[in-house]
Amino acid sequence: MVKLAIDNIRLDIDYVRSQFPAFEDPLSKDWSFFENAGGSYVPINVIDKLTKFMTSTKVQPYAEYPMSKIAGEEMDRASNLFAEMINAKNNEILIGSSTSNNLYVLSNALKKFINKDDEIIVTNQDHEANISPWRRLSNIGAKIIEWQFDLNNQELDITTLKKLITNKTKIIAVTHCSNIVGSINNLKKISNIAHQNDIIVIGDGVSYAPHGFPDVKELEVDFYTFSLYKTYGPHLALMYGKEKILKKLPNQNHEFLNGKYPYTLNPGGPNHEELVSLIGIYEYFENLYNHHFENKKLSIREKINKLNELISKHEEEIANPILEYIDHRKDFRLIGKNKIKNKDRAPTISFTSKNMSSSKLSEILIRNKIATRNDNFYAWRCLKALGIDESDGVVRLSLSHYNSMQDTNLVIKALDKV
Ligand SMILES: Cc1ncc(COP(=O)(O)O)c(C=O)c1O
Repeated sequence: MVKLAIDNIRLDIDYVRSQFPAFEDPLSKDWSFFENAGGSYVPINVIDKLTKFMTSTKVQPYAEYPMSKIAGEEMDRASNLFAEMINAKNNEILIGSSTSNNLYVLSNALKKFINKDDEIIVTNQDHEANISPWRRLSNIGAKIIEWQFDLNNQELDITTLKKLITNKTKIIAVTHCSNIVGSINNLKKISNIAHQNDIIVIGDGVSYAPHGFPDVKELEVDFYTFSLYKTYGPHLALMYGKEKILKKLPNQNHEFLNGKYPYTLNPGGPNHEELVSLIGIYEYFENLYNHHFENKKLSIREKINKLNELISKHEEEIANPILEYIDHRKDFRLIGKNKIKNKDRAPTISFTSKNMSSSKLSEILIRNKIATRNDNFYAWRCLKALGIDESDGVVRLSLSHYNSMQDTNLVIKALDKV
């Protein structure tokens, strides 16, 4: 749990929104955007970086002529900055095309450590991206054990996990935050338990990272991945892996790259221009920090910690009235906690109606200029366990720090019409 220590500073929402051109664009400006867990808007810095790369350095990087040299330097800078932002080492970061892809490649590499009858724990709360790559290892004789969430509160209970661990358990794949339930799972505690038993922990941070870049060392996870297109960037995904394990993984890339981890984990490199545009995410957060805080001497990670608190406080303020409203409506079924306290829940709010389908409900919201959708969001096992029709799914209102109290009021007004 995060203790908020910046009581007197508030997020300047006008400043935040002024950094995102989508809020001025003729197509999107009149909409309250509630589909952030699907993919976020990008700040101007990301667009500028992308344009600049395409204009002046769109050549094969790492040669000695200036356009190429700068292209290579910018690519390295982008991943090094992200390493600092999440408190990883430069050689523990891999940028791939998507989280699904990153986890698939990782599972392929980790096969080396799995023997017949070894056990792998997956949950039924996760997005399929962190389930099927592990389930697929049953092909090589692994036994798949499902850690099921408690149907009463939709939470993953750690006492249940402890009962599932045996001396055959090799991997626990678990989400940091479910994209349906929204609760934050205690990855640090899970990692502690796992490491006492020599188990590797794979954390899916896709639904967590947009609400504050995590400190991967603090979480103690072995691998952690999130999608950069949901953290204000282009369609890429980052994977962190502990150096001591990365070193031992078999090469998935060209043969001659043997030993050159982390590049060994990805067959091929990332999209160059998109990689460089990630510097724009860093610049946006640096500007956000400078706009709100005076102390310029902090490290990048320390600044991220402060911004995380600021963002959490704002998200709590704008999401709690929606949670309260949905929870009080007798005809709605809210999934997950009905209040965010000390960042124990993300502002990712899933619900259904007892009187109409989720597709009808989202249609009404869309008619009222609320950008949302109904779906199972690839967490179909979670919906199945909850007894919700997987094709109609839930309606999900997912907020980001750039949502305003006006969005909150508008969505409640729209829900009132349902
Ligand atoms: C919690 C969670 N995990 C994993 C993924 C998969 O991410 P990607 O689209 O980058 O493969 C998603 C995508 O929505 C997600 O919400």
